[in-house]
Amino acid sequence: MIQIASPQIGKEEREAVDRVLRSGIIAQGPEVAKFEKEFAKLCGVKYAVAACNGTTAGHLVMLASGIGPGDEVITTPFTFFATASVVIMAGAKPVFVDVEEDGFCLDPSKVEAAITDNTKAIHPVHLYGELADMPSFLEIAERNNLLLIEDSAQAHCANSWDGNAGSFGNAGWFSFYPTKNMTTSEGGIITTNDEDFANKCKIIRAHGMSAQYQHTEFGYNYRMTDISAAIGREQLKKLPNFNARRREIAERYNSELSDLVITPKNRRGHVFHQYTIRSDKRDELREFLLKRKINTGIYYPSLLYTYPSMKEHQSSCPNAEILVKEVLSLPVHPALSDSDVFEVISSIKSFFG
Ligand SMILES: Cc1ncc(COP(=O)(O)O)c(C=O)c1O
Repeated sequence: MIQIASPQIGKEEREAVDRVLRSGIIAQGPEVAKFEKEFAKLCGVKYAVAACNGTTAGHLVMLASGIGPGDEVITTPFTFFATASVVIMAGAKPVFVDVEEDGFCLDPSKVEAAITDNTKAIHPVHLYGELADMPSFLEIAERNNLLLIEDSAQAHCANSWDGNAGSFGNAGWFSFYPTKNMTTSEGGIITTNDEDFANKCKIIRAHGMSAQYQHTEFGYNYRMTDISAAIGREQLKKLPNFNARRREIAERYNSELSDLVITPKNRRGHVFHQYTIRSDKRDELREFLLKRKINTGIYYPSLLYTYPSMKEHQSSCPNAEILVKEVLSLPVHPALSDSDVFEVISSIKSFFG
């Protein structure tokens, strides 16, 4: 079976975990601090704050930004649930705006019409590993005095306009879930250049404690373990090669498949967390590939405002409503061999005859 995702864990990660287990410090400790420094450096920001998964990182960002009841956060409905659930967890309201006609990310040209007196932040997602149009969002955020928060869960080291995912706005947040471009098993991290904000995230991450048993505000236990951080430190070293292989496979697909399906644009620093095509024969193609032992994914089959828990945030997003019917993600992870890639391409060619 050719899988849609495959975490790449090697001897280095196993040895790093063993080293931590032998050290006796297995909750948050020195490995997390080192991982935060190394991740911040790689992203080109001053501070990074690790968390136990991406969702808790996103929740921390919302809380430390002062986003809460009565506030609105503009975002996309064509994304994973957590992009909007973290807004709701903070007590605020997600306002869903449509995606670009020629892509998959939030459309900056539609954002301004959704701004109200209650809008506090714009929250684009670098979906599938392609940066959202950050120069436009920066300009809109500045003109309207709004925070800009990047859901960078799928875009580790996506780089364009002299910046990395997570370095453009007031803060970014990432996921290290095993299917992502790099993993810590479960894990997440926040990036920012604002020292006070980073400190606030750290306080809320640890029960609101500014010092031991000094609960100066309300907080949670959202800490990352040193076991996860040790895996992450090894994965960070491998990330450039992982991303290069993803890009190489994507180039190959683009040149072989663009006459048969709508292939993704290779722009805005794309690191191809997913390689996502569009076809009006999506479901038949998916079934055909499965019979040939090729797993594919549909990210995402429904818009967030159609789920029962988000129905009250109903919106109308015509571009995104088409995407849910047409998108299909092909395997693009770095463990694919050249013959796997060839198999995917030749199977799609034979489907279309
Ligand atoms: C776009 C997006 N946002 C948020 C998340 C949440 O991250 P996690 O699963 O680590 O909580 C994910 C990943 O699952 C994601 O893909």
